[in-house]
Amino acid sequence: MIDLDRMRRDSGIIGNSDTIEEVLETIIQVAPVDISILIIGESGTGKEMVAKAIHKQSRRSSEPLVTVNCGAIPEGIMESELFGHKKGAFTGAAEDRKGYFEEAHGGTVFLDEIGEMPIETQVKLLRVLESGEFMRVGDAKTRRADVRMIAATNKNLVEESSKGKFRKDLFYRLRTVTVDVPPLRHRLEDLDLLAERFALLFSRSNDIIFRGFSSDAIRVMKQYDWPGNVRELRNFVESVILLEKGNKISSEIVMKHLEPLVGGSGSSPNLPVLVDKSSGQAERELILQQLLFLRQDMREIKDVLSGGQIDRSGEIGYINTGGGLNLKAIEGDVGNLIKSGAIGDMRVKDLEKELISRTLKKFNQNRRKTARALGISERTLYRKINDYGLERRQKNSDNKKNME
Ligand SMILES: Nc1ncnc2c1ncn2[C@@H]1O[C@H](COP(=O)(O)OP(=O)(O)O)[C@@H](O)[C@H]1O
Ligand SMILES: [Mg+2]
Repeated sequence: MIDLDRMRRDSGIIGNSDTIEEVLETIIQVAPVDISILIIGESGTGKEMVAKAIHKQSRRSSEPLVTVNCGAIPEGIMESELFGHKKGAFTGAAEDRKGYFEEAHGGTVFLDEIGEMPIETQVKLLRVLESGEFMRVGDAKTRRADVRMIAATNKNLVEESSKGKFRKDLFYRLRTVTVDVPPLRHRLEDLDLLAERFALLFSRSNDIIFRGFSSDAIRVMKQYDWPGNVRELRNFVESVILLEKGNKISSEIVMKHLEPLVGGSGSSPNLPVLVDKSSGQAERELILQQLLFLRQDMREIKDVLSGGQIDRSGEIGYINTGGGLNLKAIEGDVGNLIKSGAIGDMRVKDLEKELISRTLKKFNQNRRKTARALGISERTLYRKINDYGLERRQKNSDNKKNME
């Protein structure tokens, strides 16, 4: 068995977050076993890297890895691409031709974007998965291929199968081992490392001087939600370095280049804090957001106490209206939460401290879950825990490695 660090080196997969470590550990576990794997995750999260790493660590590593982008192959020729065809099987089939499965014999087939596979082809795929058998288009001869199948998708296959677009039997068969690659915005603690590494690689191979990112620049990058994930980050870093040749990358530079990505004018839902980047405003939003959570909690408690059902239908602008806060909703309602008599004596800090402490308690001091529930990064949570002296004597060792 190889260790995490070696897996990182061999695969090139960058990241120290718990979720990436889980991914790496899963690769280590499943790679040597000859089973099919389903990799799920948004576009640009590194699914293809995972597939390559699995192949590389498997006993099949000296045999071919054939990558098929199912989304790029026209439906009509999918079957012949995968399984080959016999001469004359259709107009234009001038020769007998091997498909990808035969080419991959002994190795691995990586079916990228498997959610795009036409439903008729899915039946044939299931057959290969179960028995290794297939037929070339227009040929009656049953052939066998010894291949391992790795599939990836950014679609929700449960939804696809309930819509009748993906066969349930194939889905059940594929999902036995599922590797879930998390979006970048859920592992922002990896962003520094990724950005630095991409910057170094790019500047070195293009002979550009790179003077580093300021810590504020990184902070601003962490406020964007990176819908295109690591791929988008990589492109972003490369273009910034190219356009800002020789400059240290400051937060102003980052903002200048992020602004167009989020729609320019500043009211982007993806970049709430970037717009009002004063940290005072950011804190204010955070607290308002938390008040809203508290209010919802209280309503649920009341409902439970009164024996009623929890009714979410009237829930006000459930916080994440795409990143920004629904201030109107809050300003209308929050007043009810705090007793009027307390106004004047209460400090924002006290509220925040109590909120963090109780959220930590609710999640058994699990900082990742707490940060997520609070809508802040783990790093910010750590800072606040320190600032408020909420540090538990007995630290959760899992969380230690993420501390600054
Ligand atoms: N954890 C990671 N470490 C290093 N590079 C990554 C990582 N995740 C993604 N990348 C890079 O991002 C880009 C997209 O990755 P890819 O595997 O093609 O994503 P997906 O298949 O999920 O769309 C590639 O350039 C890849 O090198
Ligand atoms: Mg891909």
